[in-house]
Amino acid sequence: MRKNLNYDQFLLKVKNIVVFASGYGSNFQATVDAINKGEIKARITGLITNKSEIHVIERAKRNGIPNIVIDPRRFSEPDQYAQVMLKALSKWEPNIIVLAGYLLKIPPLVVDAYAGKIINIHPSLLPKYSGKGYYGLYVHQAVLDNNEKETGCTVHIVDNIYDNGPILAQAKVHVFENDTAQDISKRVRAKELELLPKVISSLINEPV
Ligand code: GRF
Repeated sequence: MRKNLNYDQFLLKVKNIVVFASGYGSNFQATVDAINKGEIKARITGLITNKSEIHVIERAKRNGIPNIVIDPRRFSEPDQYAQVMLKALSKWEPNIIVLAGYLLKIPPLVVDAYAGKIINIHPSLLPKYSGKGYYGLYVHQAVLDNNEKETGCTVHIVDNIYDNGPILAQAKVHVFENDTAQDISKRVRAKELELLPKVISSLINEPV
């Protein structure tokens, strides 16, 4: 006789993603789009930003995703700041936390609470051009100043040192002779918008 199926075994548990961002939100949007297309089997349960007047918040609102602004300057105690972040995270229960253009360091208490579950996208081929000060066009200008022939982007796991944790994936682009930092930025950004959803999807779809 055929055994009854255990449907729990087949039930795809929808996973939760929390995104941190500080600006325009093209990586946030690429993640939303990949979810809507069914390429990432998850939902974004919340967005954490450090500023209020930024476009990524509009994107979240348009997609019905709740957001919270946590500005570290409002806290005199670093622990208080971390606790507010932890409270938001515990409400949104992330399986994965994605730093999609988040310019601040994540407090150690938060990194430790979600060890191995926080990923970041960085616009260089890490370990090159990493750490404080290497963001946005500064990265691409440094690439030009050093006559690099290629650059790219990296998705890595976040630890307590800026841009330091284990690398999960990279994508490369050429640097051409007459490139400006803006040219490189456009080329790298296009790669980021492909790479980040792919990495998220592979992490989300991993068996638990
Ligand atoms: C991206 O270049 C990302 O690599 C870096 O910050 C930028 C964010 O861009 N960490 P956006 O806000 O996703 O448009």
